[in-house]
Amino acid sequence: MSGHYSQPTGESEELAIVGRHLTKAYGLSERKAAKALEAPDPAAAVAAEGGFLGAHDVSFQVRKGEMFVIMGLSGSGKSTLLRMINRLNEPTSGELLIDGEDIVTASKTRLRELRNNKIGMVFQHFSLFPHRTVRDNAAYGLKVRGMPKAERHERAEAALARVGLAGKGHKFPHELSGGMRQRVGLARALAVDPPILLMDEPFSALDPLIRRDMQDLLSGLQAEDRRTTVFVTHDLNEAMRIGDQIMVMRDGKVIQVGAGVDIVARPADDYVSEFVSDVDRARVLTAQDLVRPALLTMSVKEPPDVALRRLADNEANGAFVFDVDDRLLGVVSDTDLLVAINADQPDLSGAVSQDYDTVEPDAVVGDFMHLSGRRLVPITVVDRERRLAGVVPRAAILSALSHVKETSHA
Ligand SMILES: Nc1ncnc2c1ncn2[C@@H]1O[C@H](COP(=O)(O)OP(=O)(O)OP(=O)(O)O)[C@@H](O)[C@H]1O
Ligand SMILES: [Mg+2]
Repeated sequence: MSGHYSQPTGESEELAIVGRHLTKAYGLSERKAAKALEAPDPAAAVAAEGGFLGAHDVSFQVRKGEMFVIMGLSGSGKSTLLRMINRLNEPTSGELLIDGEDIVTASKTRLRELRNNKIGMVFQHFSLFPHRTVRDNAAYGLKVRGMPKAERHERAEAALARVGLAGKGHKFPHELSGGMRQRVGLARALAVDPPILLMDEPFSALDPLIRRDMQDLLSGLQAEDRRTTVFVTHDLNEAMRIGDQIMVMRDGKVIQVGAGVDIVARPADDYVSEFVSDVDRARVLTAQDLVRPALLTMSVKEPPDVALRRLADNEANGAFVFDVDDRLLGVVSDTDLLVAINADQPDLSGAVSQDYDTVEPDAVVGDFMHLSGRRLVPITVVDRERRLAGVVPRAAILSALSHVKETSHA
């Protein structure tokens, strides 16, 4: 058995969900399952008894507020694992803690409480009630909790507004497009406002453009709510777009856990590489992922002749210029410096130009790569205070997109 991976343990109070050695043997009695799991090849032993090993020895941790994605091919055990978290699926063995509380031994009453208030779930087919209005569908989880009608309608409308369905509450599901229906399902989960949300391939049935919209919607909501979410998908592009952490599964086991960029940069095995080869890197990599320090920077107070000499020493044609507060003023070119020297200017203020392109750290490579190579300096990454975060050289973009392994950058 290879490929087992355990995440580093963090501060326990930051952890929302902890799974330890979770195993699910389908179709066997407890006694038979326990025996089969002791065999040298548990999967074969479970199968020999007529069962199926859906998840085996899975350990993972989800931090509070994190979007944790479970990814893998069909049959890899994603749903098996997800449904253990609210015990729609009873683990055969292993431990599961939610905010430190042991879920495996929770009573029926406690479990109902958890499912109503703490752990929401969104499925691939949102299973809306066809004869109820969109508002009543969105309010369903609140009704189950016994919330009075006026209040639950108010909250349902607020949730519908958040998913872009303001004013659609009176409609019926069949009057909405597929993408809009999925929004109702999302609103239903949001209306309850559970601290934990489980989502099992919620966007898989949507066509690619609508799916992209839904991913953006979810990311936007997540930026506001920071809700602990476990999201199942078989699409690494989707995982990369929305996930903070991605756990890759195969045959009921964990193959790799990490941030999307780490998985793309260092796939653990051929199975993961296969996913990675399908990733549209231009859509998932951001400026932040490729940024490196700017090599040549100058203070606006610098004399033009000194500045020109430094350009020459660095074999550069241009450099970044900062004001006394370290804010980026612009760039200077060698020719502008020569003009400033000839005009006897004391500093660089007269030579600074805006001949550069800036992007914010979270800009997607595909959206700014066309700017590359047009200017004096590489594409410039600045934060909201116009402080320089670094540059993205064209070679870094080309190498990331061609998947040439990057060696270390300072
Ligand atoms: N109730 C069950 N009884 C027997 N086997 C099951 C049961 N539920 C799931 N399995 C098997 O366990 C394996 C893992 O199933 P699971 O539904 O977790 O996969 P998945 O990764 O969610 O796949 P998909 O992407 O198709 O949804 C599959 O081979 C499936 O056939
Ligand atoms: Mg599934």
